[in-house]
Amino acid sequence: MSSPADHDPIAFIDLRAQYRRLKADIDTALARVLEDGRFVLGPAVAELETALAARAGVAHAVTCASGTDALQIALMAEGIGPGDAVFVPGFTFPATAGVVALVGASPVFVDVDEESCMMDPADLAAKIDRVAADGRLAPRAAIAADLFGQAADYEALAPLAAEWGLLLIDDAAQSFGGASGGRPVGALAPVTATSFYPAKPLGGYGDGGALFTDDAARASRWRSIRQHGQGEGKYDIVRVGLNSRLDTLQAAILLVKLAAFDAEIDARERVAATYDSVLAGAVSLPGRLPARSSTWAQYTIRLERRDAVQAALAEQAIPTAIHYPVPMHLQPAYRAHGDGPGSLPVSERLSRQVLCLPMHADLDEATAVRIARAVRDAAAG
Ligand SMILES: Cc1ncc(COP(=O)(O)O)c(C=O)c1O
Repeated sequence: MSSPADHDPIAFIDLRAQYRRLKADIDTALARVLEDGRFVLGPAVAELETALAARAGVAHAVTCASGTDALQIALMAEGIGPGDAVFVPGFTFPATAGVVALVGASPVFVDVDEESCMMDPADLAAKIDRVAADGRLAPRAAIAADLFGQAADYEALAPLAAEWGLLLIDDAAQSFGGASGGRPVGALAPVTATSFYPAKPLGGYGDGGALFTDDAARASRWRSIRQHGQGEGKYDIVRVGLNSRLDTLQAAILLVKLAAFDAEIDARERVAATYDSVLAGAVSLPGRLPARSSTWAQYTIRLERRDAVQAALAEQAIPTAIHYPVPMHLQPAYRAHGDGPGSLPVSERLSRQVLCLPMHADLDEATAVRIARAVRDAAAG
């Protein structure tokens, strides 16, 4: 027997349904900014920064224009540049590696753990040893990208970073809102960067980002860099900076979404549990690290016949995505920084196997079951 869910078009991420749910509050918040007229660094930006810092359990949150800028600002604020090595996972979004090259430093690619898909501490140790023995680059920082909604293995990464004096940066574009060992994402590393890209678990209606720290001096450097390197006065320029501010309209939207965030994370958790129950035994389920709560930015399975399964799902109008189809060390822009095919075997395997299923807070149970059954049948075929 067919149910309505058999025929509704399925969205990979349904931002229109979310807007309909939050419309009254978002429209009111936007109208307030339009009436007020302070469109850049207006009052909603400071209000959002206070709320974000509280959510992240840290003293300072500094917003900026994107998650990519947040990572770049983090590196600029430490003076990281030519001659410096920054360790990044081979399997990640391009920005994690791109910002390193943008500041003139050298990305050193680290393989990832097969289960969690995130930076492998053992390979980080090996790559630090190699850079130190080689002597040409100074090991300065490591950016661990939290993929798919959960925090990376900071329990193992932090002592390694401390041993070598590396700044550990949490690229939390996908995990902000999650926690590890009872500590919120934002407080797991000395520096955390996140993204408010619309598809992120906490997304605006355009680009945006934020940085988190307990260090007041660091936060003050970030505020300076996001606004042309300003010192005390508007034309007191004390360092090279960017124009990377969060629009007040985005801040107003994000304040509304932040109020709904916990309920949305719970709804995503329920979708993940439905997928788990139908797909257990049929495909490799998303790997979980212990004591984590995930924001389920993506529900990512691994399977051998990935491309055939994706094509079969597309025929049934079930959208899927591949994050990420090519590891960074094999991308044309970064090949010169890597050691070529075979050098990061887990990253290379995952890029052939991962498949992300529709995931958002407005995905109803019947549709989630329908998607999961279609995946199970396609994987068996
Ligand atoms: C892991 C990761 N890092 C960085 C970014 C960059 O964020 P943005 O698109 O806001 O620049 C993203 C998302 O787009 C991401 O998923």
